[in-house]
Amino acid sequence: MLYRELANRLQTLIDDEVYPPGVALPGVRKLSQQHKVSVSTAVNACQELERRGLLQAKPRSGYFVCQAATKHKPPRIRTVSKTPKPVSGQERVLQLVQAANNPEMVNLGTAIPAADFLPVNVIEKAFRQVWREQRRRCVGYEFPPGAPELRTHIARHLASLQCRVNPEQVLITNSCQESIAIALKQVTQPGDIVVLESPTYYGLLQVVEQLGLKALEIPTDPTEGLSLGALELALESWPVAACVFVPSFSNPLGTCLSDERKQQLLRLLEKHNVPLVEDDIYGELPLSGPRPRPVKSWDTQGLVYYCSSSSKTLAAGLRVGWLVPGKNIQRAEYLQFINTVSVNTPAQLALAEVLDKSRYQRLIRGMCSDYSLAVARMIDRVSQLFPPDTRISRPAGGFVLWVELPGKINTTERLQAAMEAGVSFAPGSLFSATGKFANCLRINCAVKWDARVERGLLTLAKLLTA
Ligand SMILES: Cc1ncc(COP(=O)(O)O)c(C=O)c1O
Repeated sequence: MLYRELANRLQTLIDDEVYPPGVALPGVRKLSQQHKVSVSTAVNACQELERRGLLQAKPRSGYFVCQAATKHKPPRIRTVSKTPKPVSGQERVLQLVQAANNPEMVNLGTAIPAADFLPVNVIEKAFRQVWREQRRRCVGYEFPPGAPELRTHIARHLASLQCRVNPEQVLITNSCQESIAIALKQVTQPGDIVVLESPTYYGLLQVVEQLGLKALEIPTDPTEGLSLGALELALESWPVAACVFVPSFSNPLGTCLSDERKQQLLRLLEKHNVPLVEDDIYGELPLSGPRPRPVKSWDTQGLVYYCSSSSKTLAAGLRVGWLVPGKNIQRAEYLQFINTVSVNTPAQLALAEVLDKSRYQRLIRGMCSDYSLAVARMIDRVSQLFPPDTRISRPAGGFVLWVELPGKINTTERLQAAMEAGVSFAPGSLFSATGKFANCLRINCAVKWDARVERGLLTLAKLLTA
């Protein structure tokens, strides 16, 4: 664990601006001499800081401190309720997401990238092509498990991430949300306990609520991710039926578990024979460095139910996702069938078309660098405009920020006024079933930056100042 100690030490130096933004860290050999560790420990520490969103590797030049890395402290780790709780009141989310469809609203509230970030032309071309070439197929159902060519592309993509998955194991769904719901239906009964990160994506709480499950929330470190110690304790104390985690770039914190910690997590789950529903929807979107491996890539026992979709990379409007169940694909197919009968056929074929082109990886790389700039700019503006002592996350991937305000301000109480003033945000209370995080909010950075956004942020800053 030496590398994490070195990473923490270097993080303090970055926080204190001993290494300010834009500056190169000493090379890994130098670091190893200075801190009396091996070169591989120094390399691992730099990679860990890359995952924490603090360093950026530049080919042949070394590691540089990210522009967004300093000035503000990250949000604090919270202790949460130690007993499982039923989830209720998640209907509030609908009001928030409905606001996203209002073109007059500055949408900082939902994690939906503005169209400017998305390859709209590529998608349009793919749709035209499938309608031209496969129109008879487009007007029919494409029953579960979904279009074979799409399942082949997903399996190939997962193979490139070191997951041993064949096309027969892939089920096409209409979203990551549906994949998660099906996976949880496969492995739980009403009343069961499922473990979630805290804060966690509200959509996961909604599924837990809908299925009548109980949520047990595990504290999550804003830089290192989920606390494995707390998870171990939970698994020893409760009859946990499943875990639902976002190990690569969680929402809302944007943290990514290291490979080592992902393997530790899997070992722990294997020991207790508890399935993991892995939500990898943001895995493609590191803000720097390589795309992380999913936990699924180490799974040899069929314990991981892998869920993802094209919502954050290509278009949320496509409504195409996928599920690789750890076990019992036939049951998953049937559950998908009774939910939606068939996923939109033209969308499945168009997505297969996009994935077929070698340009896909280039598209994603371009998108990651756009998201990286958008996140850095938002951090910069929020740290300038929001009250002093505001804490801001340093996402290692994805495009949302988690902001913790000083004092006792309740962000839920300010939401209505903000929406009336034309700007939305996601209040912190939505991200837990325990009523925690009242003084926090999540902000979407993937917005088209213009004077309206600047004005919206200013309005928000005023409203959130006690
Ligand atoms: C972590 C996470 N999982 C799942 C989803 C839902 O994605 P989809 O549009 O594929 O249902 C989201 C959307 O914001 C998300 O942030």
